[in-house]
Amino acid sequence: MLKDKRLIPFLSSQRIASIVAQLGERITEDYAHSVPVVVGVLKGALLFTADLARHISTELELDFIQVERYGRHPEPQPTVTIVHDTTLPLEDRDVLLVEDIVDRGITIRALREHMERKGARSVKVCTLLLRRGSPASDSIEYVGTGVDRGFVVGYGMDYRERYRNLPALYIMEED
Ligand code: IMP
Ligand code: MG
Repeated sequence: MLKDKRLIPFLSSQRIASIVAQLGERITEDYAHSVPVVVGVLKGALLFTADLARHISTELELDFIQVERYGRHPEPQPTVTIVHDTTLPLEDRDVLLVEDIVDRGITIRALREHMERKGARSVKVCTLLLRRGSPASDSIEYVGTGVDRGFVVGYGMDYRERYRNLPALYIMEED
């Protein structure tokens, strides 16, 4: 653990597993007549995407996109830079973007537009966590659960690249 950081339990791995299973069930029903391209947003949604895909029982294709919000800055920047793009053709495809957390919605708005520019027929978003009061609340199709204040780590989510390997989710206590 990084020095002087305390982690407060937020969601156990059992709780995460049950949320992921429910999301998978809904997505399976909604995409029963389609072969969606499920696009995980790296790196934060890597573990979530891997688990979610195993709970979607319709045929699908899997791809990933990696974005950068920080650059050399300590705070997230208003611009979203794609550092690794998807490789599957997305023209006329139903795309499901998979995110770890939607906060102000800047990342997901940029990615939605990016997928539309690539010719996707539909773009929906599945996020494990949605910040309560987020301006993006009304535009996210699949939400695992809400989260109030605090910085979340674990299950793929990082603080300065650490903690991604924790199987559960934690809120990092302020110093
Ligand atoms: P938004 O663009 O403001 O919606 O922020 C979402 C992005 O910021 C996510 O893809 C995360 O990578 C990152 N982020 C926002 N809040 C947290 C957090 O509490 N823990 C870890 N990453 C976060
Ligand atoms: Mg992310």
